[in-house]
Amino acid sequence: MSALKPDATGPDLTLGLATDTLADGTMLAGHVGDEAVLLARRGNEFFAIGATCTHYNGPLAEGLLVDDTVRCPWHHACFSLRTGEAVRAPALNPVACWSIELRGDKVFVREKTVPAPSSRVTPVHGAPQTIVIVGGGAAGFAAAEMLRRQRFQGDIVLLSDDDTAPVDRPNLSKDYLAGNAPEDWMPLRSDSFYVKHNIDLRLKTTVTNVDARAREVALGDGSKLAYDRLLLATGAEPLRLPIPGMDLPHVYTLRTFADCRAIIARAALTQRAVVLGASFIGLEVAASLRTRGIEVHVVAPEQRPMERVLGPQMGDFVRGLHEEHGVIFHLEDAATAIDARQVMLKSGRVIGADLVVAGVGVRPRLALAEKAGLALDRGVVVNDYLETSAPGIFAAGDIARWPDPHSRAAIRVEHWVVAQRQGQTAARNMLGDREKFDAVPFFWSQHYDVPINYVGHAESWDELTTEGAIPTRDCVVRYKRNGRVLAVASIYRDIDSLKAEAAMEYEVVRK
Ligand SMILES: Cc1cc2nc3c(=O)[nH]c(=O)nc-3n(C[C@H](O)[C@H](O)[C@H](O)COP(=O)(O)OP(=O)(O)OC[C@H]3O[C@@H](n4cnc5c(N)ncnc54)[C@H](O)[C@@H]3O)c2cc1C
Ligand code: FES
Repeated sequence: MSALKPDATGPDLTLGLATDTLADGTMLAGHVGDEAVLLARRGNEFFAIGATCTHYNGPLAEGLLVDDTVRCPWHHACFSLRTGEAVRAPALNPVACWSIELRGDKVFVREKTVPAPSSRVTPVHGAPQTIVIVGGGAAGFAAAEMLRRQRFQGDIVLLSDDDTAPVDRPNLSKDYLAGNAPEDWMPLRSDSFYVKHNIDLRLKTTVTNVDARAREVALGDGSKLAYDRLLLATGAEPLRLPIPGMDLPHVYTLRTFADCRAIIARAALTQRAVVLGASFIGLEVAASLRTRGIEVHVVAPEQRPMERVLGPQMGDFVRGLHEEHGVIFHLEDAATAIDARQVMLKSGRVIGADLVVAGVGVRPRLALAEKAGLALDRGVVVNDYLETSAPGIFAAGDIARWPDPHSRAAIRVEHWVVAQRQGQTAARNMLGDREKFDAVPFFWSQHYDVPINYVGHAESWDELTTEGAIPTRDCVVRYKRNGRVLAVASIYRDIDSLKAEAAMEYEVVRK
């Protein structure tokens, strides 16, 4: 018998299990051979699918069953119990499925089944022939992948001014920067994927103009490309501080794989680093540089890190956590100048630095949308279906401001999972569906071994309640306005985070 994989624990599901072991709406982790398998029950139906999330290997048995799906506890990917399909990002690959046999009062898991391909048939009438996607990031990649998953047979051209194929951007400030992630974790897909799926990925290709009337885009080399549907997913670019020294070679911002590699190369020569900004990216960079043994100073104007998004108690916790790991904060202060050796602060302090990383926010890349004459409002205005004001042009990701039914406001966020899910919805809508984008916003952030998960969207709140205890890293914080929960942040309370997301979805469906 082959050795079990470490995650293949629990009962051998081929030997059969009394059906009443599993109550309706519950699941358990077991194994078939050396593979971890999740057995789930909905009413009198049983399902057996792979138990390990295809995103970062989250344990699906610790997630939540919602209708005929299971949600991953770590970053809320969603898998169909019927087909194993990763129906919602951040997971993109399916999990395997096994057939079930019910005999007497026992349920047996039998052989692995081959998932049926999507039954979608693209309508012949009005079907697009060429879909052009501008942006090889979260939204653009997810859209291209979903178009092929939907069996779209036409041309897909994925244009990116980046020099690398789409990568796992969130990892650029986390494990990869810390030196804990191998190179092959980073690409969302290997080069062969684009060839196999006939996705015309053109790197180092800048789109310089969009002619919405002629339905064509202009490229940096002067050529033009016609489209039937266009997805703008141009993302955001890091802000730079308007202070002397920002253009010095040891001063970096972090958005691309190339940025990250350059920081890693410099980190090898660095004893002391200054991080400008105590935002999510700034503090994740601080944590990763500490993991590399570098002395890290964080300079930021606010009183508490992340207070604006997470509130004062979480802000104090995050600060304490970083201080425990040796980060030195200079809060309520700001950099006024940088030279080759040091960073000068408003307070008069001077900090020596071999490396400076600015994580002071981003600006959505709206130039193309502006040239195309699209309606803008601190982002590209899109409707429920992610359509812009111009026929045939959709927008997704960091640039899109959409009517969010949960916060009941038009919002724009900078979250990986939202960008991917918008790309997926936009793909289906470009094929003629009328699917509203109504996913509850979700993001996660990781500081050392502490993950913070956040569902919903609260720009302000009038009440904040905490269940559990923030300092012991076991808490749920609810952000409310007029008694209604707008958002929930949690640490090591994954199931509560998933339930909060499901409750927010249910509230919208019920309305
Ligand atoms: C270091 C880092 C860590 C992050 N960590 C997290 C996290 O933990 N959790 C989370 O929720 N979010 C995180 N984010 C945010 C998340 O990565 C973004 O919200 C997400 O990438 C947005 O996706 P997008 O497709 O809109 O844009 P992007 O992923 O930025 O992709 C935009 C693409 O468009 C291309 N492009 C732009 N203009 C043009 C043009 N004119 N011509 C051709 N190509 C063009 C760019 O080269 C790029 O390929 C992180 C971001 C960074 C930078
Ligand atoms: S590990 Fe499952 S969503 Fe990330």
